[in-house]
Amino acid sequence: MLSSITTILALAAAARAAPAPAPAAEISGLPTFSVPAVHNSNFVRNGTAALLKAYAKHGLTPTREMPSEFYGLGKRQDSSATASPAGGVEYLVPVSVGGQTLNLDFDTGSSDLWVFSSQLAASSRSGHSYYTSSKSTTYSALSGYTWDISYADGSGASGNVGTDTVVIGGTTVKKQAVELATKVSSTFVSDSSDGLVGLAFDSINTVSPVQQKTFFTNAKSSLNAALFSAYLPFNADGTYDFGYTDSSHYTGTIEYATVDSSNGFWEFPSTGYKIGTSSTVHTISGQTGIADTGTTLILTADAMVTAYYAQVSGATYSSSAGGYIFPCSATLPTLSFKIGPTYYATIPASLMNFGTYSGSKCFGSLQSAGGGSQNIYGDVFFNAYYGVFSATGPKFGFAPIA
Ligand SMILES: *[C@@H]1O[C@H](CO)[C@@H](O)[C@H](O)[C@H]1NC(C)=O
Repeated sequence: MLSSITTILALAAAARAAPAPAPAAEISGLPTFSVPAVHNSNFVRNGTAALLKAYAKHGLTPTREMPSEFYGLGKRQDSSATASPAGGVEYLVPVSVGGQTLNLDFDTGSSDLWVFSSQLAASSRSGHSYYTSSKSTTYSALSGYTWDISYADGSGASGNVGTDTVVIGGTTVKKQAVELATKVSSTFVSDSSDGLVGLAFDSINTVSPVQQKTFFTNAKSSLNAALFSAYLPFNADGTYDFGYTDSSHYTGTIEYATVDSSNGFWEFPSTGYKIGTSSTVHTISGQTGIADTGTTLILTADAMVTAYYAQVSGATYSSSAGGYIFPCSATLPTLSFKIGPTYYATIPASLMNFGTYSGSKCFGSLQSAGGGSQNIYGDVFFNAYYGVFSATGPKFGFAPIA
């Protein structure tokens, strides 16, 4: 008797403490559609900044000395961080949240849909569009829910959570979990995006106490095929194609690799590479790669980075750049790496030069992924390949960009 009373009391306490579950999302939409990925005219090609952002996002452990900024200086997350919106994010997608249009970064390397909000200090949101929940008739707060993508270096963003109607292209998701920023670090303030649309797997969503589904997880049931494709041509406007692959965006055949989603990413084996026209295949057993539109560069195992720059005359590792730099006049080889068990992606020489570092020195698009066994294939890869993210499998497909 006593124990059943104790149980009832415990259950009552638990019921009081536990926030109500999020309501189920309601989906309606077109079977196929595409949304513009607008090339950001303010995008600044700063290799060091792109590298530091990737290191923070993925918690990478450097194997060589990094710029002083890496060690956390000036990166503290603050509700009043200031910086002028400029570079950072190369492609922006217009998204309607509760009828308010924001330009968001589609990120296949994370799983939170978060937005700049009116709860941020004015200095943090200056230059950004931001979401005001009180102006939305369809907003509903998820009481007691929070989210947090703080990184080890103190950068990141965090806040509270609600649901609202999110429209991306031809799909409307009612009661989509929307994460409202109350704090953002200066990295995000200076990025031109007004937030992110995470398109990796639900298992890495950061909402507490209950993880929330991504827009794609909600939307896929209304699509003709449960997939979306990224078309991100170099220095030009692209699209994200939902529910189909657009044959005008690629050439040849789409090759697919089976995805292992256990780490929450679009991840596949990536155990071999070739440099330039050499047919020599170098093997890195156990290595994987993730397809990450939210990262700019290509980051890989050190062996691959070292072997590549050994073929570039004048290339040196610069600790102040945080990566390999070389004379801008250098001739670069192509880089090929395996995606899945059989097929190689080849990045043309022109894309291997990320841009000017300083003076006549340029920063390489290929840099170290640190000590881990996971390569990161970012926008430089997508400048060369149309990418297909298919929930069926799941699998990742790629074909040369048109
Ligand atoms: C590039 O970014 C780094 C790291 O944030 C910064 O120290 C550097 O001043 C930037 N370079 C330019 C030219 O803006």
